[in-house]
Amino acid sequence: MSQLGELESIDRAVAVLRERLGPARVAGLRLGMVLGSGLKGFVRVLQEPLEIPFREVPGWPQPLVEGHGASLVVGTVSGLGVACLSGRVHLYEGWRPNDVVRAVRTLRRLGIGSFLLTNAAGGIADDMAPGDLMVLRDHLNLTGQSPLIGPHEPAFGPRFPDQTRVYSPRLQQLLLATGARLRPGVYAGLLGPSYETPAEIRMLRTLGADAVGMSTVHEAIALNAMGAEVAGLSLVTNLAAGISPQPLAHDEVVAAGVQAGAALIALVQDFCKRLGASRSGSV
Ligand code: HPA
Repeated sequence: MSQLGELESIDRAVAVLRERLGPARVAGLRLGMVLGSGLKGFVRVLQEPLEIPFREVPGWPQPLVEGHGASLVVGTVSGLGVACLSGRVHLYEGWRPNDVVRAVRTLRRLGIGSFLLTNAAGGIADDMAPGDLMVLRDHLNLTGQSPLIGPHEPAFGPRFPDQTRVYSPRLQQLLLATGARLRPGVYAGLLGPSYETPAEIRMLRTLGADAVGMSTVHEAIALNAMGAEVAGLSLVTNLAAGISPQPLAHDEVVAAGVQAGAALIALVQDFCKRLGASRSGSV
């Protein structure tokens, strides 16, 4: 699909969401979230939730690993209108970058200005332990791909978007202001699906990465280009390959996510409250 077809596809999805949500809900939406491992339970804290399965939104890709369960859940947290993408698609499933960012682009076109992207990650920095949380202050896109490749579509941002501050300092401050144990760091986004080799982790450490994962960077690139303010939050589910002698297992990554879930949900709830009380441009 060309970029022009991409815009039409997204605007069809926008029209369907406007119809399903109604003007009052759409007008109240302030925050878009992508829920990674460990934060799926967040939808349970939404007040007046309305759930729309991905399959009912035209053009939205279905996550292959999760099969069922991928849905958009819209509701409020302390009066703040929030749209949660519970389930995301990854490049390693065979999707293209445009597919990976279609849902967040749709939410941006729907009028949402602020986004919180969450993920599970392997810890690289010396002081990291499983269960730690990292606020993204920057990223390394090491996927070799970008959602902005192709003919230029002005609705998706400038041809050569500035990326000096992909992760909004204001939203980082709001996350840190919750008082939760959070450390700022750099997230390296890789293609996957194999975990890294110890040599790759040594390379990433040298390059300045504090944590590594297989998502988030393309969503952040697409949203930053569209003028949204973006925050990123990583749950460190394991030490990266070679740092601990144990081999990495997906089940352990999932289990660590579940374990840290409650604290993470409380933190994000507090962030929503602070975001609701703040005004764009202030903390
Ligand atoms: N590497 C890449 N992606 C991950 C990891 C990891 O160690 N842990 C969770 N997602």
